[in-house]
Amino acid sequence: MTQTIILGIESSCDETAAALVCDGQNVLSCAIASQIELHQKYGGVVPEIAARAHIENIIPILRQTIEGASLTPAQIDAIAVANCPGLSPALLIGVTAAKTLAWAWQKPLIAVNHLHAHLQSVMLEQDQDQKCFPAVALAVSGGHTSIYNCTGPLNMELLGRTIDDAAGEAFDKVAAILRLPYPGGPSIEKLAKNGDPKAIKFPRTWLEKGSLNFSFSGIKTAVLYHCRGQDMKGANRVPDMTDQEKADIAASFQAAVIDVLVTKTIWAVEKTAANTILLGGGVAANSALRRHFEETAANLGLNLIIAEKKYCTDNAAMVAALAYHKLKANDTADLSLEPHA
Ligand code: KG4
Ligand code: ZN
Repeated sequence: MTQTIILGIESSCDETAAALVCDGQNVLSCAIASQIELHQKYGGVVPEIAARAHIENIIPILRQTIEGASLTPAQIDAIAVANCPGLSPALLIGVTAAKTLAWAWQKPLIAVNHLHAHLQSVMLEQDQDQKCFPAVALAVSGGHTSIYNCTGPLNMELLGRTIDDAAGEAFDKVAAILRLPYPGGPSIEKLAKNGDPKAIKFPRTWLEKGSLNFSFSGIKTAVLYHCRGQDMKGANRVPDMTDQEKADIAASFQAAVIDVLVTKTIWAVEKTAANTILLGGGVAANSALRRHFEETAANLGLNLIIAEKKYCTDNAAMVAALAYHKLKANDTADLSLEPHA
């Protein structure tokens, strides 16, 4: 049987990444240049700095990926790139690199939605016979919190999404309130390990009855009120707090976010009658979130597929994985492809 090898490129935010993936599942090589250190002092990603770093990183990362798999361009079947959503100046670098290679090597070009690629990341290095569809899929990242009804890798119907902050954004903002380093998710997870998730009853925002939309700006504000006093007149007390107080805030915040994500995903399962849950995106790297989903799915007899931790945060293997299905469906782009936010 012939194999299909796709080169994926990802540059939507602060990771410059490339990967070679065979048949949408087997990762032959995967390289990522993270820019965390560049953005850390600003407490978030600065688009122009990200774009400049992508320009510096893209060629070494492509070279590392192709040499890492010991392949020649002739053995690559198509070039795929995430062209939306993301930071436009950052996306432009990946899109330009992909178009250049597709033209120079005369390969099909495939445009991929970054968020949809996060959902496809669950398939990377999984058992080939795993039955995945129909499924409810939750993409939970720094920019998005979206829930889909999926009947196939290319068939997804949006059921709900955040109406304000994404879950990852809430982790990042609460980490800033707690004076923890960027990115906030891993910092909060680490601190929460020593805290009591029941110590503080932070609000869960359910929106209207049965809504599958999310809202995480309220909990972020609740953490701020907790740290500055209800009248918001005081200074942030965090520098004077004990380690235990800070850990309790982190654990209670994390528990509230997890509660909403898990509960709404189960509501979606009830609405769609799907038997499988797919979970991807940066926040899906959180061990407490994974454990909660695992326990809930086991209790309800649901099939659960969570992306491997290394494929939760931004990577290009997920881009190549989704592109495999688009190539099979003859859904290719041409050299007029543009990025869009
Ligand atoms: O998917 P991703 O790498 O980029 C976007 O597409 O946004 O997600 C990044 C987000 C950040 O907000 C980061 O704080 C969060 O994922 N994140 C985590 C963890 N690791 C990354 N959130 C909670 N727990 C983690 N372990
Ligand atoms: Zn992402």
